Formats: sequence, C-alpha cells, structure tokens
Amino acid sequence: MTDVTTGGGPGAATPAYLIRGVRVLGAEPTDLLLAGGVVAEAGHGLAARGARVVDGDGLVALPGLVDLHTHLREPGREDAETVESGSRAAALGGYTAVCAMANTSPVADTAGVVEQVWRLGREAGLVDVQPIGAVTVGLAGERLAELGAMAESAARVRIFSDDGHCVADPRLMRRALEYVKAFDGVIAQHAEEPRLTEGAQMHEGEVSTRLGLTGWPAVAEEAIIARDVLLAEHVGSRLHVCHLSTAGSVEVLRHAKKRGVRVTAEVTPHHLLLTDERAASYDPVFKVNPPLRTAADVTALRAALVEGIIDIVATDHAPHALEDKECEWAYARPGMLGLETALSVLLDVLGERWDLIAERMSRTPARIAGLAEHGRNPAPGVPANLTLVDPAARRTIDPGEQASRSRNTPYAGLTLPGRIVATFLRGEPTVLDGKAVR
Ligand code: DOR
Ligand code: ZN
Repeated sequence: MTDVTTGGGPGAATPAYLIRGVRVLGAEPTDLLLAGGVVAEAGHGLAARGARVVDGDGLVALPGLVDLHTHLREPGREDAETVESGSRAAALGGYTAVCAMANTSPVADTAGVVEQVWRLGREAGLVDVQPIGAVTVGLAGERLAELGAMAESAARVRIFSDDGHCVADPRLMRRALEYVKAFDGVIAQHAEEPRLTEGAQMHEGEVSTRLGLTGWPAVAEEAIIARDVLLAEHVGSRLHVCHLSTAGSVEVLRHAKKRGVRVTAEVTPHHLLLTDERAASYDPVFKVNPPLRTAADVTALRAALVEGIIDIVATDHAPHALEDKECEWAYARPGMLGLETALSVLLDVLGERWDLIAERMSRTPARIAGLAEHGRNPAPGVPANLTLVDPAARRTIDPGEQASRSRNTPYAGLTLPGRIVATFLRGEPTVLDGKAVR
C-alpha cells in the first residue's frame, strides 16, 4: 500500500514526505507535503522535490488520535507494558499522543514520578506521552497529592486522576477541584461508589443473577457522577468523567451540561461494542471496571456519543500479564487492551463518519488535555501529527500480533473494519506500511 520510492533530499533538514492522493477526513483526494514537522503544503499534483512519496490512494487522513486514558504500567509492571511498548501499540493504533494514568508502582503522585514517565515517553519518541498525576497520595483517597508540584514539573501535568479507584470522599474531591482551578486543571474521576461495589464481579442485572456473581450496580457510577457534577458546579472547576458506562449516567450528564457545568466525559470502545452477556463465558478477558453493561446501555452510549453528550472515546488500555488474566474470573484483574483496536471498533460502531471520529478521538481529547500540537486537521501550517487509515481493509484480531506486551484483547478472532497504514509524529513516520518503524 505504502510506496516509499525515493530517498530524502540531499541536505534536507528533516526528511520530507509527500503523501499522494489521500482523502483528508474523507474529502476528495489531495496531496500533502510534510516538511519541517508541519504540513507544508496541500494540493493537487505537488512535486516530490526529493521528498519520500507515500501512496495515499484509497486512504483517509485523520488528525493523529489522542487517548486521554492509557495505562502504560511503567514504573512497576514492565512485564505487562512499558512506556515504549505502549507507545508502539498507540502509534500502530493511529495515536500521536496518549495520557498515561497514574496507577503505576510507585504511583505517579509526585513531580519525580511524572517526570520519569514523561522522560521515558520522550526517549521512546513514538507518541507524545502526557502523564496524568494522582489526586491522592498513593491513590489511597486520604490526602491530596502534590498537585501543584506536578503541574509545575517538566511534565506540566494538567489532568489528575486516581483511576482504578474513586475519589470517594466528597470533601477531598471538592478540595481537588478547587486546587486545580488555579491552573485550569481537570480532575478525571473513576466514578464508583465503593460501598456499593464491594465484592462486585460484573454488572448487576439479569445475567449476574443467572451466573450467581456479585453485581456492580449502575447506581454506583451514577451516584458519584451526580455528586461530582454538583461539586464541579459549586466550585466552578473542570470535571472529566472516565469510562462512563450506563444509560443513567448519560442522563445525569445531559442534565449537568444543560446547566452549564464544566464537565466532559469519555466512553471506551469496549463499552460501545460488548455487553455483560460476555461474562457467561467466564473468560476473564471480559472482566473490566466498570463492567460491561446491557445492550440497552450500549445503545444509549452510542447515541450519546453521536449527540455529543459523551465528548470523547478513550481506550482505558489496561494491559495485564498472563498470570493476572488467565486465572479464575474472581481472581483476575479487571482491564482490556484497547490502543491497537480502538479505531476499528469505532468504524464498526459509527461507520465512516470521519469528521465525527476525528472530533471524538482526536480534536476534543486534545483540547481537554491541553495538547495544542495535537487534534488539528491536516492543513498547511499545522503540526504534522496525523494517521492514514485504509477503510476498505478488514482484519481479524489476533492477540499474538498485538505490539502490546500483554495479550488481553477482548476482540480475539473478531473481524473488524479498517487498518492503520501510517502514522506521523511531527512529520516523522512512527508507522509505515502498517508496521512500526522501530
Ligand atoms: O478495568 C480497569 N482496569 N479499570 C480501571 O479502572 C483500572 C484499570 C487497570 O489499571 O487495570
Ligand atoms: Zn477506571
């Protein structure tokens, strides 16, 4: 598909790339010349002038995808994922930036740890890795972490989250919202009232009753979101809701947005495609937190994403080592891989609605995270962070072919539309011909 026919021009400061005949967000084919880290020119019949030529025939160019919710596992669980392996998985999935969650070991609750993750991301150089800082020390939910020090660090943290845990104490949540207001930060909440989910194994409903597994009721999520939008309104701060998963949560959010609360929300690809019926297999690959919900929830989430009540898609890419997943359901860790399959799942769910996909998977997440170089449609002068998709391709997901160090994809054996052919970070390819360049 991708045809690199000529070398970079002699003495060129940055090797230039000429993408021929690509459909930017599905529009009529055009050429894009990438040089000096930006889209230098767009138009028909551009001369190569020593640039390497990439055949864009049949491909769609999107702004590089931006993931607001990625677990990279480094430091601490490098057997499951590293910043580098996760960055490679991201690039192969069409991403140019990811926000790395704080539930590492040690927890990313100090300037030192967020700077370490940020530095590792720069060294890997495959996507921009923006660390998320913990809200509370050690994710313990008792004392606020050093939010200011993380914000002022080289990593310039703007999103804080105890993801994996809920900031359940309303007073702490209020103080966190107040604290980040000074630098326009955002608190990303994992909405789960812990007293309502003790011992929970899956969504509480007909299927959990049938299987005899302890349920995780929808109200445990909805009650926290309701509380938090009221707190955010009271304080005038920005709240982001992680992995929203129920129809009731959508209604709470709709109400809050109508009132002008500064709240945004994400949904994961797996909550848009899979239901709690999957738990009947007792295959822990389908164990995730929040759990897979009902078909009615899936329908409501899809509609809310199209409508814009849900702002973005975020993967919650959660790699786990074999021993943490290939065990009895009750002992398995919750979480699923997501980076390498997200765009295909969204194409399956939404069809080829390119502008909507770009909005929900790139432009809006970049805006929420404050990543000014990302989330911009490919056009002259814009940083050349973009991805090329072959919408006609179909692929059958093979866990063994994932670049992630882990194998816990819930889509194994499923045939999904779309394939990432190339990804460019500041004009340099991180993926060419469907393969990582390093
Ligand atoms: O399923 C999940 N896995 N949900 C979370 O909130 C945390 C994540 C993880 O870190 O594995
Ligand atoms: Zn979470």
